Amino acid sequence: MSGDSILAIDDSMLVDAGTRRKIYRHPEDDDKILKVFWEDQMPARRRARLWYGRFKSLRRYDDNELDYLQYRRAMKHAPGPLGCIYTIFGYAETTQGRALVGEHVRNADGGTSVTLRRFLQDHGPAKIFPLVDDLFEELAANHVVTKDPHLENILVRELEGGALRLVIIDGLGDPNFIPFATWSKRLNRKKLMRKKQTLIRKAQLFAEFG
Ligand SMILES: Nc1ncnc2c1ncn2[C@@H]1O[C@H](COP(=O)(O)OP(=O)(O)OP(=O)(O)O)[C@@H](O)[C@H]1O
Ligand SMILES: [Mg+2]
Repeated sequence: MSGDSILAIDDSMLVDAGTRRKIYRHPEDDDKILKVFWEDQMPARRRARLWYGRFKSLRRYDDNELDYLQYRRAMKHAPGPLGCIYTIFGYAETTQGRALVGEHVRNADGGTSVTLRRFLQDHGPAKIFPLVDDLFEELAANHVVTKDPHLENILVRELEGGALRLVIIDGLGDPNFIPFATWSKRLNRKKLMRKKQTLIRKAQLFAEFG
């Protein structure tokens, strides 16, 4: 990261975008991306639009902060780097606002890893089932809480030699007011296994009907 300087980014540097955030290449580091909220998706704006918004803390509307908090929590207990979630480095100021700085998830050949949705479109579902098992097992074993493991929040990374592994790049954290899954590793595992079944069903449906 570049100290206190403001990183200049513009839309020619977009990697992709979701419903809440735009993902930019880092101008000074090819191995990093910057996650910036769309103007109308800024946490304070989202909260202000909801009549019950002020009953929840601002942090609960901030996907960048929820991802980062959960990442730090997981890393405190993990025995080493976790392949199942992308690395998060912290924050940087940019010309598009404050950004979360994360690892640019790439394949061994340097290309950006594709989403699980894209992978299913191109290759069908057969290869992904063992990968989904491995992903959820690693999440459960390391007590990682994830609220939203859907087809576009998971990337398929191709490693040296062609092996594949799934990496979560969004939707970390506990959305519940009383965070039971955060408190209990056993309960988190149970919830993760339900989410796994939902993801598998979605993948099957998507592969069949598009
Ligand atoms: N670390 C990363 N490395 C490579 N590509 C990424 C990375 N993070 C995000 N992307 C790409 O950008 C897209 C949008 O990112 P992300 O899911 O973080 O945005 P979002 O707006 O929070 O999503 P949602 O629509 O689920 O709320 C992803 O589907 C993926 O294609
Ligand atoms: Mg997303």
